[in-house]
Amino acid sequence: MEKLKLGVLGSGAGSNMQSIVDAIEAGELAAEIRLVLADVPDAKILDRARRHGIPCQYLDCAPWKTKLEGPAEDRCIQLLKDAGCDVVVLAGFMRIVKPKLLAAFPMRVLNIHPALLPAFPGVHSWTQALDYGCKVAGVTVHFVDAGTDSGPIIVQKCVPVLEDDTPETLHARIQVQEHLAFPEALRLLAAGRLSVEGRRVRIAPEVAS
Ligand code: GRF
Repeated sequence: MEKLKLGVLGSGAGSNMQSIVDAIEAGELAAEIRLVLADVPDAKILDRARRHGIPCQYLDCAPWKTKLEGPAEDRCIQLLKDAGCDVVVLAGFMRIVKPKLLAAFPMRVLNIHPALLPAFPGVHSWTQALDYGCKVAGVTVHFVDAGTDSGPIIVQKCVPVLEDDTPETLHARIQVQEHLAFPEALRLLAAGRLSVEGRRVRIAPEVAS
């Protein structure tokens, strides 16, 4: 099986990237992380990458605050291509990516969102789920399209919402599932088991080796 060559974009703690690194190092995911880019200069995700010897750098996305567009988008695409990346992983990247990046990696950009989409797109979705009174919450890994958290769904996992949950406790429970969901989606991609028909992602049965 040919390895996925991942480029990871993040903004924060990088726990999802860590789950991918752990799966790779455990021999459970046929992939290598070629490059990590963060739009926050001191983001912890960069420290984690350095600790694992993964090339990484800060990507200045000014003047935009919530999207990746213009010269920063061009630079991002160039860096990812130069590093030989063939899949882009949005691991807590707090910006909207635009059609140019998506066109450079067609159906090869994946995002993780801490809600059961299509419920609660956007930010602080676990707080939205709690405030709405949901009894279950969860996580979605999906292909990225031109909308916000709207692309075809690859993997979803549920967690219960408990009586005494706060946004923090619910988010922590969701994150445990995130760290299973992202490696799982990437394993399916690496195995060539995903195909997209309209909105539906078909998962081909596993072929015994
Ligand atoms: C996660 O909750 C992810 O679902 C959301 O942003 C958070 C990133 O966490 N998109 P981390 O940086 O991977 O720890």
